[in-house]
Amino acid sequence: MKFFVDTAEIDEIRELQATGLLDGVTTNPSLVAKSGRDFKEVIAEICDVVDGPVSAEVAATDYDGMVAEGNVLRKIAENVAIKVPLTVDGLKACKYFRDHDTMVNVTLCFSANQALLAAKVGATFISPFIGRLDDINLPGMDLIADIRTIYDNYAFTTEILAASIRSANHVSEAALAGADVATIPASVIRKMYDHPLTDKGLAAFVKDWKSTGQSII
Ligand code: E4P
Repeated sequence: MKFFVDTAEIDEIRELQATGLLDGVTTNPSLVAKSGRDFKEVIAEICDVVDGPVSAEVAATDYDGMVAEGNVLRKIAENVAIKVPLTVDGLKACKYFRDHDTMVNVTLCFSANQALLAAKVGATFISPFIGRLDDINLPGMDLIADIRTIYDNYAFTTEILAASIRSANHVSEAALAGADVATIPASVIRKMYDHPLTDKGLAAFVKDWKSTGQSII
């Protein structure tokens, strides 16, 4: 499973890049607003740090506007993936960018039918939002499994990018359901390392090693 980090904070991205875990980055207008940074500047900086896909979302909601904005964004770096919403115009824009050899992340997916449409227009990534479905008492993880079945039935190559991840359990559950990628907040990635038995076991090993009086170096 590939790990993308869901943030527009360059310091978090640098820190994660150093762990060797990072395969890409997703941003959205809310994350850019939170960063307080200039959008195009921050995307360029992220693309300098990360080799994998960096999703940059269009702000327009009409086809012409999305194409115009996406054409600006894709010139920033070769690893920019244009993020478009799952609407009629968004999927038309997806087709345009795929025809122009640019990666596209189709976002705001909440149903298997929507995912089917995105695959048919050649989306590079489809982003089903697990957490936001859970928020309204719908089983977000079932959507990942349904999309996996549909894509496998027809050998679609669109990658399933589990989004709106809120917990470490979401990550392992999405992996079990067959997601190709998870885009994860940095705080959740940090929690994935944790297990109380690891802490307890390590404390015991450190104590016992000290009692031997030995040194490896
Ligand atoms: C990623 O591409 C999405 O924009 C993001 O995962 C949304 O997460 P949220 O529902 O926690 O805002």
